[in-house]
Amino acid sequence: MGHPSHSVDCGFLNDALHLPLICESDLSAQTLAAEKKILKPLDRQQVLNWLGANVPEKRLNHILRVEETAIKLAQHYDLDWERAAQAGLLHDLAKYFKPKRLLELAKADGLELDPMDEINPHLLHADVGAIVARDEFGVCDIEVLAAIRNHTLGRAGMSLLSCVVFLADSIEPGRGDTIELNELRKLSHKNLYHAVLQTCEDSMRSLFANRSLVHPRVLQTRNWALQMAQQSTKSDKPKLSSA
Ligand SMILES: [Fe+2]
Ligand SMILES: [Fe+2]
Repeated sequence: MGHPSHSVDCGFLNDALHLPLICESDLSAQTLAAEKKILKPLDRQQVLNWLGANVPEKRLNHILRVEETAIKLAQHYDLDWERAAQAGLLHDLAKYFKPKRLLELAKADGLELDPMDEINPHLLHADVGAIVARDEFGVCDIEVLAAIRNHTLGRAGMSLLSCVVFLADSIEPGRGDTIELNELRKLSHKNLYHAVLQTCEDSMRSLFANRSLVHPRVLQTRNWALQMAQQSTKSDKPKLSSA
């Protein structure tokens, strides 16, 4: 898979996620703003065929449950469920890529790598998954690409759609039925920031317990989610005075 292998050129991923636009370079700024709101349809069967050839059946079933969970969670928060569906379906495209391939694709696309990515390239499957979504399936939507990129480590300042996909990956029904998971499922339907905070802290606790390395992006996501959770809790409180 080279870059760009698809007829639609979305540019390099870092650029795509930091610049306002996107696919068609000859449109006026006004049209671009309007275009940004329209989600390009995804050929779901084409993605399923690709997944059938590149991931085991167990993983495909997880992916389908993440897609469904992301749709439901997006609908619960009145977010764009079609973007959630696309990101859910595409989130683990690179899950079975070998470490060398993950590093090569990430570097070729100019992604900024943390030393932790070199030590544990598997974490790059999220970022590289967005590259595959763009190059194999022509996905150009910034929010969808970002949600795919952010599904494992999160990101400080990520969108609500990214929070939904990040959480859907953790709470989909196949993850289990423990008390903690059921609490996280409830929390995910109450407050997205609190649930992201909880997920990061659970993940860090487990990494510490196993004496494993922690990617700094998890801590950055956790600190951001903590601040957002505190702000959202404050704004939830009823006003005590009209002054
Ligand atoms: Fe993943
Ligand atoms: Fe996943």
